[in-house]
Amino acid sequence: MTQRIVLFASGSGSNAARIADYFEAVEGVEIVALFSNRKKAAVLERPQFKEVPTVVFNKVYFNSSAFVQALEGFQPDLIVLAGFLWKLPPLLVSKFPQKIINIHPSLLPKYGGKGMYGMHVHQAVYKKKETETGISIHYVNEHYDEGQLIFQAKTALTTEDTPESIAQKIHSLEHEHFPKVIAQLLR
Ligand code: GRF
Repeated sequence: MTQRIVLFASGSGSNAARIADYFEAVEGVEIVALFSNRKKAAVLERPQFKEVPTVVFNKVYFNSSAFVQALEGFQPDLIVLAGFLWKLPPLLVSKFPQKIINIHPSLLPKYGGKGMYGMHVHQAVYKKKETETGISIHYVNEHYDEGQLIFQAKTALTTEDTPESIAQKIHSLEHEHFPKVIAQLLR
């Protein structure tokens, strides 16, 4: 039986693309939909998603039960947030227990919570002169970055690092591990 992944992404989508590439070569796993809250998001233009149904939505629809139904219609085995920033409504979370995961670019619980995304995280890590940072993959609940941790990976930082180099290190960690962690969860 095919296992069905629904992706949520609203940014550049490098992680989403990486996940799509990885599972292209895996039999029995399919990306069945790409959800995005930004109609101009670069992820929607990526070649990997040419044949994938996309759903672009606004906040009103996102918070409606019709949205939950539309998502249920795709019969997801796993819902993967890869660069998606909105907090999920409780109804949505309750419909998919232990089936929604997110990736966060820090070692949670450090540098998580509202406003902690993208370069804001890397700048904060840089200012604190951390000697390491990393990624966290976690289940999603109705609070920002607080669901149960599934996986973390670390990378060392030196005094030479800048917020930009930290971002690069984090992206390579994400690209390396996120698809593999998803594959393990689907087993
Ligand atoms: C990643 O750094 C991820 O940790 C965070 O959003 C970023 C998405 O990057 N949740 P991309 O759009 O996949 O390149």
